[in-house]
Amino acid sequence: RKDLLGMSDLSAEEITYLLDTAQTFCEINERDVKKVPTLKGRTVINVFFEPSTRTRTSFEIAGKRLSADTINFTASSSSTTKGETLIDTVKNMEAMHSDVFVVRHSYSGAVKLIAENTDTAVVNAGDGLNEHPTQALLDLLTIRQRKGKIKGLEIAIIGDITHSRVARSDIWAMNKLGANVRVYGPLTMLPKYIAPFNCRKCTSMEEALEGADVIIMLRIQHERQGKLLLPSTREYAKFFGLTNEKLEIADKDAIVMHPGPINRGVELMTNVADCNRAVVLDQVSNGVAVRMAALYLLGNRKGGKIENAS
Ligand code: CP
Repeated sequence: RKDLLGMSDLSAEEITYLLDTAQTFCEINERDVKKVPTLKGRTVINVFFEPSTRTRTSFEIAGKRLSADTINFTASSSSTTKGETLIDTVKNMEAMHSDVFVVRHSYSGAVKLIAENTDTAVVNAGDGLNEHPTQALLDLLTIRQRKGKIKGLEIAIIGDITHSRVARSDIWAMNKLGANVRVYGPLTMLPKYIAPFNCRKCTSMEEALEGADVIIMLRIQHERQGKLLLPSTREYAKFFGLTNEKLEIADKDAIVMHPGPINRGVELMTNVADCNRAVVLDQVSNGVAVRMAALYLLGNRKGGKIENAS
């Protein structure tokens, strides 16, 4: 494969291979090895047309840990503000002999369009409400580390499902790896038609939480709402927010996840966000390993073995 565009494209075997590779990088990171020479001489450009804290920083750290030259392109200070097209922008960066583009864009499909117009490897860092594949990978890696498996787990995804690229990538991948997914959220933020996903739409928070092994909480994606009638922050917190009391409904060993950024007191109460069942910062740490795996596998297309990385 030249690109990593979405979990919808990948087979269960490919997802598992990415997770296994990321697990190897986790172990290297835990040994406090700050740099491996794997991508020495390669250039990774982070091309972000939308804000990011976790994804952009972790791709930059991942590239640097693999010894790649990592450059950040920021749309607001680029010549796109003077009318340069997306494809021209990419072609110009390709002409500088880049090896990987990591792209985030507000339009669903923009990252695929870029991938189709460049020979450089492209990683999707989030496109509109379509996909965020490395978030799904870091979610799966965190679940696998905590639960020892993915297959057969009961996973609840709660909040603004319709506008969440994280939910879409998670559900694609969880379906492929055999987890049972249920979703719940405000009616205006639950997709009317759930196909092609295999998941259960719940009609109450209790139904969503009952017997859940993993709970993934999502914020309202205000930036993608259009003209929807939104619940107020207080309503969202009351009906769709996770409190300690509601967490009791889930399995006693259930873990709580959130892709970030968290709106404390809205979808996740502070005492839940900071409790020992919340694995939010583990997700962030795993984000570096997952992005190292993605860059390693795509940026090193001339070959090489994962063992060589250590
Ligand atoms: N989870 C996630 O994509 O966070 P950022 O928007 O901060 O990158």
